[in-house]
Amino acid sequence: MEYQYTKQFRQGLVEWFNEEKRDLPWRHTKEPYKIWVSEVMLQQTRVDTVIPYYNRFLEKYPTAESLAYAPQEELLKMWEGLGYYSRARNLQAGVKEVVETYNGVVPDNRPDISKLKGVGPYTAGAILSIAYGKPEHAVDGNVMRVLSRVLNIDADIAFPKTKKIFEDAVMMLIDPENTSSFNQGLMELGALICTPTSPKCLLCPVRDYCTAFQEGNPASLPVKTKKTKSKNIDFDVFVVRDREGRFLLEKRPEEGLLANMWQFPMVERQGETLKTLAQNYQLTVDLFSVPVLKFMHVFSHLTWQVESHLVDLIAVSQLPDNARFFSKAEIAELPMPVPMLKIWDKLK
Ligand code: ADE
Repeated sequence: MEYQYTKQFRQGLVEWFNEEKRDLPWRHTKEPYKIWVSEVMLQQTRVDTVIPYYNRFLEKYPTAESLAYAPQEELLKMWEGLGYYSRARNLQAGVKEVVETYNGVVPDNRPDISKLKGVGPYTAGAILSIAYGKPEHAVDGNVMRVLSRVLNIDADIAFPKTKKIFEDAVMMLIDPENTSSFNQGLMELGALICTPTSPKCLLCPVRDYCTAFQEGNPASLPVKTKKTKSKNIDFDVFVVRDREGRFLLEKRPEEGLLANMWQFPMVERQGETLKTLAQNYQLTVDLFSVPVLKFMHVFSHLTWQVESHLVDLIAVSQLPDNARFFSKAEIAELPMPVPMLKIWDKLK
């Protein structure tokens, strides 16, 4: 874009953002810690979903210090339902580094902030530009969509390398006087106007500078090749109830999907799963199980096809170390993945 256009583009975007931006809780603060929390939550999760989590989270953990030493189980409970739980654990690890290495002050430059656990190029740029007013790129999917159209960039955004093109573009375009409104303006434009399908170009503040609008087919950008479709696994989930009305739960391993969260025992559905359950947990159960709920749950690379059953315990010998019976009141305090909460809600 010619220099004159760059200035007009900036001005159009920043003025539009300042007029039209949604009133969101994290837009009432410049505290780097709070911006950090919001940006981590907003990765992979919709704004409407994030709002109540953000508010509750900052009530519980108003400062970096209060989050740094929170028990992991309590932290996971606060994150329960947001998904991508490693985000919460990485955020805590990063915040702890800030408390211990930087005296509680989030670094204000890209090299240092990027060393923090869980802080990638996007999060770094978002904190630096929004909280500190630094002219740094913060490129997410929305920003790539907007700029692919404005600048007519047809590189395939399915390839991680492509992001560099957009980061370089932001560094050329960013308004050094209004870094927060500029970067958030790009995000907001992508969310409200420059949407994936049927972009609302007639309402766009920068359509005069948009190549794809001029050329007539903005919805054809960005170019994104499809990812391979995700794997399916069938599970039987058993809610085992003992005579005191307590229920068997196990803690998942500390690495991998849903790390450290609590679940009812699950058995991959092949053969006689009730027998496998009895073997794996050294239980005797009533062979009349009651069907509870049948549904699927989609993760990013994986889909669970779940069938759940209520079974009564007859006898137990030696449970695995990560499993035990809990009362209803205790279960309410455990962090559980959404598919388990669905089953539990149905039973309650
Ligand atoms: N998505 C990511 N960051 C955001 C922000 N600061 N405001 C709105 N949506 C966002």
